[in-house]
Amino acid sequence: MSDRVIEVKDLHFRYRAQEQLIEGLSFEVHRGEFFGILGPNGAGKSTLLKLILGFLKPQGGEIRIFGERLETFSQWKRVGYVPQRFSVERSFTGNVGELLRAVAPKERVGWVIAFLHLENLLKRPFVKLSGGEQQKVLLALALTTNPELLLLDEPMTGLDIHAQEHIEQVLRDVSKERTVVVVSHDLGFVLKNATRVLCLGMPSCRVIKPGEFEGVIKELYRLH
Ligand SMILES: Nc1ncnc2c1ncn2[C@@H]1O[C@H](COP(=O)(O)OP(=O)(O)OP(=O)(O)O)[C@@H](O)[C@H]1O
Ligand SMILES: [Mg+2]
Repeated sequence: MSDRVIEVKDLHFRYRAQEQLIEGLSFEVHRGEFFGILGPNGAGKSTLLKLILGFLKPQGGEIRIFGERLETFSQWKRVGYVPQRFSVERSFTGNVGELLRAVAPKERVGWVIAFLHLENLLKRPFVKLSGGEQQKVLLALALTTNPELLLLDEPMTGLDIHAQEHIEQVLRDVSKERTVVVVSHDLGFVLKNATRVLCLGMPSCRVIKPGEFEGVIKELYRLH
């Protein structure tokens, strides 16, 4: 079995003509990696995840998941996705318990509730939860199919320090057996946990190891 979970080759994407957002991007994510994606607001991080998930179609290039071309890939249960929160919160009705039972295979419901300590939220309507509580439920939903690949778009945003520590621990546990790709503005979190980091929004996007990070950060966020 190939070690490559995601392969992106010469990817081109734009929402509008003449506004190229992703231009000739290539990288690979290997099995078992904790792969970070960093970049300023508007760099295209969320867009890149949506391209990998097939929600958006690139104008050029190729994406493979588990070795298979995205166009023919159909084993989406192997992939979990936690979107950037505010884009989904209004689309869920019902309480947390109902949501989990609707999505999760029966034998996984109990596990995911215990794993993320959701016991106290089960009877509450999802739309009335706080941002951090919603974030936990979204992560739970993504874990219910026991995915081999987990894509997370800013999982720490809006969480208090206790919830951040909890989610960080959960992700570390999850990443022992799975491949995790995480978009985050939390540099400390990314540097501490990532095996490699893709820097989007630089003249030449590149993948770095956390050790090489110091020099790149200034360029990435145009700091002086
Ligand atoms: N559906 C859309 N239609 C048109 N333009 C879009 C759409 N979604 C995003 N964009 C634009 O594409 C660019 C990249 O957006 P994206 O959401 O991928 O950025 P991001 O790196 O995730 O930013 P952030 O850190 O703020 O979440 C932005 O300029 C955004 O305005
Ligand atoms: Mg985003």
